[in-house]
Amino acid sequence: MIVDWYAGAARDLPWRRPGTDPWAVLVSEVMLQQTPVRRVEPVWRDWLARWPTPRALAAASPAEVIRAWGKLGYPRRALRLREAAAVITEHHGGDVPRDVAGLEALPGIGTYTARAVACFGHGLRQPVVDTNVRRVLARLVHGRAEALPARAADLVDVAELAPDDHDRAVRFSVAVMELGALVCVAGTPRCGVCPVRDRCAWRLAGSPPHDGPARRVQRFAGTDRQVRGRLLDVLRAAPEPVDASSLAAAWTDAVQRSRCLDSLLVDGLVVQIEDGRFALPD
Ligand code: ADE
Repeated sequence: MIVDWYAGAARDLPWRRPGTDPWAVLVSEVMLQQTPVRRVEPVWRDWLARWPTPRALAAASPAEVIRAWGKLGYPRRALRLREAAAVITEHHGGDVPRDVAGLEALPGIGTYTARAVACFGHGLRQPVVDTNVRRVLARLVHGRAEALPARAADLVDVAELAPDDHDRAVRFSVAVMELGALVCVAGTPRCGVCPVRDRCAWRLAGSPPHDGPARRVQRFAGTDRQVRGRLLDVLRAAPEPVDASSLAAAWTDAVQRSRCLDSLLVDGLVVQIEDGRFALPD
């Protein structure tokens, strides 16, 4: 039923179109790990136009990938993706691995992303669990108002809900995610349009309120994450290495600025050259 709902209600996202190859899916999933769909779309298109294969990305410099990552945030993902491309090129003949173990061994690829690539990229039957899916499971199966902390049993829960038919099971994995993203949303779900409202354990229990700790809303303004982003913006825009005073213009608090610059250096997102100026890594 969730699969049939998906056929009519799903968003038309470019990485879901037929013919999207496993590499393009892998790139989309890494970008989507912490960034909303609308911001990912243009960067994903440009990225694949420039680096259509793992081999192409593996040949790029860190500076190029950090620039192309643009303002997606959490830029260490860009370096990990390039490292993953190198491993795929060197150890898998340039082809994205099909098996979950091979995928999980790649830099930056965890439980979720490995299964998403196996399922959406290679068309293999795989349970795929992200936060949206955990919220659907919490309600539909466990009668709870909000997602429970991630557990290994989540994969078993989804696998048990999946249809027997292979192709439908593959679509089911993305359909449950979409249900969580569009209908079974956090806070006040849109149960009126839910295809499984009649067998939802949470509704059958009378929609009890959430009894756990309140969800944390992530602050951005003033965080080190914002400051790191500002510093990287300066370096991305500069055709030449920049000196400390140019970076000072990006953030006035000197203590926080230097802490953030240090962390960028430690992460390998920035290098300091011999004359003391700063640059993206070659
Ligand atoms: N479709 C496939 N994977 C997705 C994701 N991570 N976010 C949104 N839509 C998707």
